[in-house]
Amino acid sequence: MSAVLVVGSANADLAVPVDRRPAGGETVLGGDTVVSPGGKGANTAVAAARLGADVALLGAVGDDDHGRLLRASLADAGVSARYLRTVDRPTGVAYITVTPDGENSILVSPGANSALAPGDLTEDVFDGVRVVVLSLEVPLPAVESAVARAAEKGVRVLLNLSPAARLSAETLAALDVLLVNEHEAGYLLGADDADPRKLLELGPRAAVVTRGAAGAVVIDGDMSTTVESPRMTAVDTTGAGDAFAGALAAALAEGVDLVEAARRAVRVAAISVTRHGAQPSYPTAAELGVG
Ligand code: RIB
Ligand code: NA
Repeated sequence: MSAVLVVGSANADLAVPVDRRPAGGETVLGGDTVVSPGGKGANTAVAAARLGADVALLGAVGDDDHGRLLRASLADAGVSARYLRTVDRPTGVAYITVTPDGENSILVSPGANSALAPGDLTEDVFDGVRVVVLSLEVPLPAVESAVARAAEKGVRVLLNLSPAARLSAETLAALDVLLVNEHEAGYLLGADDADPRKLLELGPRAAVVTRGAAGAVVIDGDMSTTVESPRMTAVDTTGAGDAFAGALAAALAEGVDLVEAARRAVRVAAISVTRHGAQPSYPTAAELGVG
């Protein structure tokens, strides 16, 4: 029984510092490769657990060193791996370049993550769960089935639309909180400058739009609240959105209201960008002064 269930990916992140990214047909030399645990699902789970939430990750890894790296990171953060399957595919790998301004670009080879299917959502997975968190680096049928099942069971559903994908109208309507960055909001609304309040017309009960250094906007019914971010010098923004999702879920599972949860999440994401990597950069509750 865990209060937060994360359904999503686990990847080994292979990050290379570069001055600029290669164009097609070009070779560019970068710095030393850093291998660290990542993947949007595992990142979210670790971020929530560091803040004291009781978390399980439902996902899949391979029987290889990358899979063991991920299992070790999850165990270290206290995330339950009882729904983490080992499958006969290589663990997902993310090939990441990081430029001096902290900006990243990511190519994902999903590998084992592709094995996730509706059948993984066994009867017991939602027992005692208060919040289920989903992201879209795993097959959509598994995501859509998890959303439908969670909604049936009265579990609060938080979906991080990352990477952006088209979801069915039923899935969007079953969401309690839709979490998007500005690009993903633009993707859903068909225009980058569309009014974010229109997100609720797609069906979710509430929406949170993250805006990088500008913080976030929480849209809940008729209320639209801007949450400012502290000023930070970014060295690596990889996984900042996942940190936000994990922190939001941890706070919601504690019973904190959505705006206050977003305030915490903005701070967690802001701290994460000041350090390299995804999971290794996430703060603890003590560091944040909560819990
Ligand atoms: O959101 C950041 C994550 O995206 C990285 O950890 C990488 O694994 C990719 O999944
Ligand atoms: Na980071």
